[in-house]
Amino acid sequence: MSGVIGKVAAFARRPRGAAVPDAAAILAALPLPAVVLDAENRFRFANPAAELFFQLSQASLQGLALSELLPEDSRLFALIEQVRRQDAPVADHDLALDSPRLHRHGVSVHGAPLAELEGGVVLTLQDGSTAAMLDRQLHFLGAARGATAMAAMLAHEVKNPLSGIRGAAQLLEQGASEGDRELCTLIQEEADRIRKLVDRMEMFSDRPIERRPVNIHSVLDHVRRVAQTGFACHLRIAEEYDPSLPPVWGDRDQLVQILLNLVKNAAEAVDPREGEIVLATAYHHGVRIAVPGSSERVHLPLTVIVRDNGPGIPEPVRATLFEPFVTTKKGGQGLGLALVAKLVANHGGLIECDSRPGRTAFRLSLPAPPPGADLSETEE
Ligand SMILES: Nc1ncnc2c1ncn2[C@@H]1O[C@H](COP(=O)(O)OP(=O)(O)OP(=O)(O)O)[C@@H](O)[C@H]1O
Ligand SMILES: [Mg+2]
Repeated sequence: MSGVIGKVAAFARRPRGAAVPDAAAILAALPLPAVVLDAENRFRFANPAAELFFQLSQASLQGLALSELLPEDSRLFALIEQVRRQDAPVADHDLALDSPRLHRHGVSVHGAPLAELEGGVVLTLQDGSTAAMLDRQLHFLGAARGATAMAAMLAHEVKNPLSGIRGAAQLLEQGASEGDRELCTLIQEEADRIRKLVDRMEMFSDRPIERRPVNIHSVLDHVRRVAQTGFACHLRIAEEYDPSLPPVWGDRDQLVQILLNLVKNAAEAVDPREGEIVLATAYHHGVRIAVPGSSERVHLPLTVIVRDNGPGIPEPVRATLFEPFVTTKKGGQGLGLALVAKLVANHGGLIECDSRPGRTAFRLSLPAPPPGADLSETEE
């Protein structure tokens, strides 16, 4: 007797009275969101992963009607009805759960009838957008790598001749006529502009990442101060911090760069009079994200969100948002988010964006220090 059959037989022979966890404990341990709805589509049970998914506590979900979370024409209601009608499991692998409080796309939902509860249905939900997001991350990483090689080439091939051109224009300026002097200034200004672009491209070069436990709230405070003394001096920046957050396992300078770019974009997007930026942190205990195409599951429990009330990401750049040179701004280089994607990838983290008019949120998922890391050395 071997394999599964052996295990089942061993289970059947287990000593009487051996503790078998009850169904609720098993469901609570599941990393997949699972809920039980009664015949009126009211929540009768929600596991911790479902609390995260719906962003409501178990106490708030208990007794709540699904129609209070989703519009009545949502395909999820049709799926639930089908489960009841056929008295059999039904699945849908590309559901959009869209409402003022929920924005999930490409969600896989499995529904099954619950014999113990008249009209009861068990639902498990899996956010397919996580897999799609990881796919995109790998794609952006490729794009950023392309930019890295280009940065090295540009720095080498462009910087030296450029300083020669600038110096020559400066020399010519001295003996030039009024009209020619203007042209010499133009050459110098344009050379400076190219120099700035090349300097920024150099940030993509593969600097080694030095990871330590970092207090992300002190990083956020630093970024807020920099923003409010400069480009965001006219804006309100609110904080929604989870005070019990453990440190991030990261490189402080790179984390500052990531957040400064996100806050700068938010500041540039919002209305100067009514603009508001929110910096939020949260801890998601026990949630592991499966990496597509591998058995690896990464633990990224720390969430940092930069949210603004601007008009949202313009449609034409949504699909290529994190690629270099994608911009809708006059004078923009389109390098901010490409750099962010690269630095987040250096951390083994994830970045996703959820945007609609009036609410754009960039969400970073970052790792905590590995077991055994010396937290007394946390960088403030
Ligand atoms: N918070 C936001 N709200 C609305 N649109 C945004 C936001 N963040 C980014 N975008 C859009 O994404 C584009 C790319 O952003 P990115 O930071 O990569 O480049 P940029 O800001 O245009 O230029 P750079 O950062 O190099 O100065 C922006 O031009 C803008 O259209
Ligand atoms: Mg930018």
